[in-house]
Amino acid sequence: MANEFSLDGKVAVVTGAARGIGLEIACRLAQSGAQVVFTDVEPELGPEAAASVQGGSYRNLDVTVQSQWEDTIQEIRDQHGRLDILVNNAGISPAGNIEQSDLALWRRVQTINVESVFLGCRTALPLMRQSGEGGSIINLSSIQALRPAAELAAYSASKAAVRALTKSVALHAARDRIRCNSVHPGGVHTRMLDDFAALTGDAEAALLKLNAANPLGRVGLPLDIANGVLYLASDLSAWVTGLELVIDGGSTL
Ligand SMILES: NC(=O)c1ccc[n+]([C@@H]2O[C@H](COP(=O)([O-])OP(=O)(O)OC[C@H]3O[C@@H](n4cnc5c(N)ncnc54)[C@H](O)[C@@H]3O)[C@@H](O)[C@H]2O)c1
Repeated sequence: MANEFSLDGKVAVVTGAARGIGLEIACRLAQSGAQVVFTDVEPELGPEAAASVQGGSYRNLDVTVQSQWEDTIQEIRDQHGRLDILVNNAGISPAGNIEQSDLALWRRVQTINVESVFLGCRTALPLMRQSGEGGSIINLSSIQALRPAAELAAYSASKAAVRALTKSVALHAARDRIRCNSVHPGGVHTRMLDDFAALTGDAEAALLKLNAANPLGRVGLPLDIANGVLYLASDLSAWVTGLELVIDGGSTL
């Protein structure tokens, strides 16, 4: 029986792939057989990350810049002639409740976390459609979209927008068998979580507390999220679209 987790012959692009969850996703897709374009705004870390796996290549892409999206997709068209998987992962999560968050912070978060997904989906869809074989778009949202925290006002709103946009894209693209799903991680141990824990003044104690508060006894690892993304990228999820895949160790139950 064919290994349906295999991504042999598929081409993927992952944003924010130089570190953290994006890096793990890009490596997981490459290890499963895809040609993966790692993209980020980290000209040193990024190429190193892409070189660590077979089938990886790196391209600088600031996800907020439309012309850079257009150039990236054009380059993939020229080099591979197809695009099967788009993972919109890049994001930021500056802390701040509604009164602490000024308009500049609000706009920065919406631009990097939401406008990027809008640009990515609309720029990639024509090439994804071209093969006639369908495709998969996976957008990184968060449990904050479902259960917002007071101190993450702009971030929670941005991730809720990603959740809704995902479903709209799913309905639009379904006729071409292009699926679009959102992934909602709980706290995952990356620099993003470390920065958040550091705000408490005792990062180590904050992480211990987060581990203890989770029903499964720990915060997430990037691989926990990458495994979910691999399912959504593969043909095993061929009849799954518009799903909110919550991967959080049970923390929202
Ligand atoms: N870590 C968590 O606990 C957690 C929980 C829920 C959701 N998420 C989401 O998962 C995704 C990845 O988070 P992470 O924890 O790996 O974060 P991270 O900060 O470790 O990595 C984010 C990556 O995005 C890149 N990036 C930032 N701005 C960019 C831009 N304008 N253009 C291109 N790349 C840019 C960074 O360079 C970095 O490589 C984010 O969308 C985040 O909101 C993370």
